[in-house]
Amino acid sequence: MKALSPYKNPDLSISERIADLLGQMTVAEKVGQMLQLDAQNDVTDLIWNVHVGSILHTSPADMVLAAEVVSRTRLQIPLLTADDCIHGHSFWPGATIFPTQLSMASSWDPELVEKVARVTAIEVAATGLHWTFSPVLCISRDLRWGRVGETFGEDPKLIGDLGVAMVKGYQGEGLDDTTAILACAKHFVGYSETQGGRDATEADLSPRKLRSWFLPPFERAAQAGCRTFMLGYQSIDGVPITTNEWLLTDVLRGEWNFTGTLVTDWDNVGRMVWGQKIQPDQAHAAAAAVKAGNDLVMATPVFFEGAQEAVRTGLLLESDLDKAVSRILRLKFEMGLFENPRLPDSAIQKNVIGIAEHGEINLDIARKSITLLKNDGLLPLPKAIRKIAVVGPNADDQHSQLGDWAGASGQVAWMKDGNPRELTQTVLDGIRAIAGDGCQIEYALGARIAELTEDPEGDLFEDGQPRPWISSPAPVDEILLAEAVQAASDADVAICVVGDMIALNGEGRSTATLELFGAQIALLDAIAATGTPMIVVLISSKPLALPESALRAAAIVNAFNPGMKGGLAIAELLFGDIEPSGRLPISFARHAGQLPVFYNEMPGQHGHRYADLTQDPLFAFGEGLSYTNIHYSDLTMSKDSYALSENITAQVTLTNTGQRPALETVQLYIHDEVTSVTWATKELKAYQQVWIEAGQSLTIELTLPVSECSLVNAKGERVVELGMFTVMVGKSSRDRDLLKTRFSVVG
Ligand code: NOJ
Repeated sequence: MKALSPYKNPDLSISERIADLLGQMTVAEKVGQMLQLDAQNDVTDLIWNVHVGSILHTSPADMVLAAEVVSRTRLQIPLLTADDCIHGHSFWPGATIFPTQLSMASSWDPELVEKVARVTAIEVAATGLHWTFSPVLCISRDLRWGRVGETFGEDPKLIGDLGVAMVKGYQGEGLDDTTAILACAKHFVGYSETQGGRDATEADLSPRKLRSWFLPPFERAAQAGCRTFMLGYQSIDGVPITTNEWLLTDVLRGEWNFTGTLVTDWDNVGRMVWGQKIQPDQAHAAAAAVKAGNDLVMATPVFFEGAQEAVRTGLLLESDLDKAVSRILRLKFEMGLFENPRLPDSAIQKNVIGIAEHGEINLDIARKSITLLKNDGLLPLPKAIRKIAVVGPNADDQHSQLGDWAGASGQVAWMKDGNPRELTQTVLDGIRAIAGDGCQIEYALGARIAELTEDPEGDLFEDGQPRPWISSPAPVDEILLAEAVQAASDADVAICVVGDMIALNGEGRSTATLELFGAQIALLDAIAATGTPMIVVLISSKPLALPESALRAAAIVNAFNPGMKGGLAIAELLFGDIEPSGRLPISFARHAGQLPVFYNEMPGQHGHRYADLTQDPLFAFGEGLSYTNIHYSDLTMSKDSYALSENITAQVTLTNTGQRPALETVQLYIHDEVTSVTWATKELKAYQQVWIEAGQSLTIELTLPVSECSLVNAKGERVVELGMFTVMVGKSSRDRDLLKTRFSVVG
């Protein structure tokens, strides 16, 4: 019998196994091991001829094929399989699709978000995937950016809390937990700091600005044990992140002691030649990327030749490759993939994918995320209502409701029609399910959003990713409009579900405008003109600027992309079966010209308005109503002054002065009164959710380590500066919603 190669012997140490395997690998196999390629291109060829170490975008059928091909290769090195399962298993027909990150962030509920990630991991792991490219820890800044919906919003603290929760949920009990998947903090770092909201531009960021706002959520993910980081497309100060020594070596691997795996974003190595033009050819690009400490190189097929050429010409030493390959192999050994490659398991799939229990968690997070932004008292609707008109392009559109990275969103070829329609409850479905038996429900589309034409520049971007079609505003269709007006005219209430759609949402799909696109404004104007009380429900990837008719509506409900159960949760909220509890994780602009608008901006020196518009957002970070009124009073601190090592404690009394209970999110912001450098006038530092019955009054306590009252000084150091601070507690980031008191920090 042939003796087992030492690397296949689980009794040996991982270092011994790596040394043995490396010793048997050719240069081509080592280079291939560093590659993560798109499995939609002939997966057999990728494994057989390119020796890839990892694949992404693998169809269910190819996942099985890939394992079979690996078993016939010389060394049988298991693949690391990855995909963007960023709010559920995006590309598995029938998987549970949760609200998008931005939508989930409106729950302000890390515990629930952790459960969502746990469920995602369980479903994903059963399909043979080891790794999800999630969470996104980018800070939303310019709302025109196409990827705002993938983020947790605008605040580093909330992003950090929810990001850590997702990392924990995905990674479960650790690397040998077969229900766990690797998490990936992305896009390291500053990708969202776009020019004009355009995707994948240079990011204009100083080291101090990075340390102040952009790095902290990533640092927390690293501390929470996030095993992988993805490096964004962007360059900062002329240097692509892929080769940024300060960020990769000094900060990530140095200061934070990150020992996990790095993956580039799509063709980052290739784009240094064809896009950023800072490397003369692929051999030089490969050498720079390897030397900078990258591990997996995503979607740069030419790296295979380039890196080998770099070794032949002496730009790279084989030992440089060995370092990266050892790190990849170590991860595979630590996960036990050589013993159990965690292949798709149809028996487990049947037991876990899309099961009712997961649907319950999906409904929970949707319920907690829907945000009531305006209510003149029309809501909640009585069950006995006679007739409801449900109109608008997103009232019955499963794709808009699920959002990006969900089957039909364009990234993969095998789910062009998306998930089975019956798995998603749209707003129309939800209203039909919840309204009283005698209620007449009339649906009309009313308006279309966009007309799509192929981009004359071609199907693909230069990096091989699909180039989105061009969206033009859909014209008003008089017949559709008349149907909607007719439905609304003799109804007791008109529910208008408007927003955006996949074509206006996602990578490469930034928008120049924020207004409701196409014929939607005409629809809202026409429904408003009927005089029937109007409720506007927003299903969109990001905060949109709203027309007058929407602002004058009786109620406005925001959902972002609320997932498969979103329509049901919205209907429950409209009829008062649940209490509205969502709070905005991001500010709404009144107009695109206000951008960027976020609550923790640096103060300006010339007032708070433009000549023609206020700078005030339409809806601010932290805002959200309930069906009652919560009055805040008696904000007190346990002491007047604190030492650096102490916790501050603030107490506040909440009184529910209305008729219904509420889940209130009590928010605590800090303002450092005199600082050595200019700094944000308020920053969220703590929050607590509390259930409060009608008529009840209760006092709650919020604590915060003084060490978190920090800023980044002119030298780039995060420090707490002694002196006076204001603490602000209330129901949103708006000054008018906050009680204030002061304390000092003493040496
Ligand atoms: C490019 C995107 O920027 C990134 O977020 C994603 O994970 C990869 N493509 C893989 O699909």
